Amino acid sequence: MPVPKAELHLHIEGTLEPELAFELADRNGADLPFASVDELHHAYRFEDLQSFLNLYYRLTDVLRTERDFTDLAEAYLRRASADGVRHAEIFFDPQAHTTRGVPFETVIEGLWAALRDSERRYGITTSLILCFLRDLSAESALETLAAAEPYLDRIIAVGLDSAEVGHPPAKFAAVYERARELGLRAVAHAGEEGPPAYIAEALDVLRVERIDHGIRVLEDPGLVERLVRERIPLTVCPFSNVRLRVVDQLTDHPLRRMLDLGLLATVNSDDPAYFGGYVDENLEGVRKALGLDDDHLRLLARNSFEAAFIDAPTRARYLAEVEAYRF
Ligand code: HPA
Ligand code: ZN
Repeated sequence: MPVPKAELHLHIEGTLEPELAFELADRNGADLPFASVDELHHAYRFEDLQSFLNLYYRLTDVLRTERDFTDLAEAYLRRASADGVRHAEIFFDPQAHTTRGVPFETVIEGLWAALRDSERRYGITTSLILCFLRDLSAESALETLAAAEPYLDRIIAVGLDSAEVGHPPAKFAAVYERARELGLRAVAHAGEEGPPAYIAEALDVLRVERIDHGIRVLEDPGLVERLVRERIPLTVCPFSNVRLRVVDQLTDHPLRRMLDLGLLATVNSDDPAYFGGYVDENLEGVRKALGLDDDHLRLLARNSFEAAFIDAPTRARYLAEVEAYRF
């Protein structure tokens, strides 16, 4: 049995496996620009974040009905439970759907049908993080948050994703302020392809509690010191960083250095259907590539629960499971 862990950086649209994409395309009469699952597999070679996003948004077109979103989330839960995931905070990108005519309600009702009972059925507690697409306008983000208002009891936080460079966090100051008024917590992708200054801006202007990716923090020693001092979690995604060419190869990944510096780093899968593995495969990958030992692995599992948006008794229960685990 794998070590118990929380997954905190997982885009539900990024769990769309080629087989399910073809099944949904068939069911919905949607066109896919690939002749077969094999041909689609070959398209999973990316130059950078944008080249990945182009395929990611293209494939979301097969997701059209509530049932499609339910099937997608069910498949993830099944997979995550085999990986020892005990708690998942799941990103979703409403604007990837509303901009092509799928209502917000369809997306959230579909996801919720799978997630509402996840603890009983899969032993996984879950919550949703609504992400704004940062290459769309601030007004579109505000409209998206307004559409979410009837469903706030299903959403723990807001996040920020999509093309980072040229879309600094401050562009979304107003919608994060509104989200905070509504009682939502806040995270943001920063320092993946974008500069360390975006990490500081996400903390200072958006007042986020966690940074998604954040590996470029290492270019700014003063900022590293701040994140260590303030115990700001970083949701690191090793396979994603290699596939999107943020890092040359897994053996060059800075995760171990981040832990040595005292950063509160966690390991996550980002878009596992596209990047070659789910969370346990990411952990096994860095274990081998970076020579991590059992203490590192226990620390990563502990960090994942420290960084999660869960109440104190739940955190204590999960941390006790980590301490009891024998590697
Ligand atoms: N970065 C930015 N946006 C994204 C990602 C990512 O890794 N995955 C899905 N949307
Ligand atoms: Zn991401």
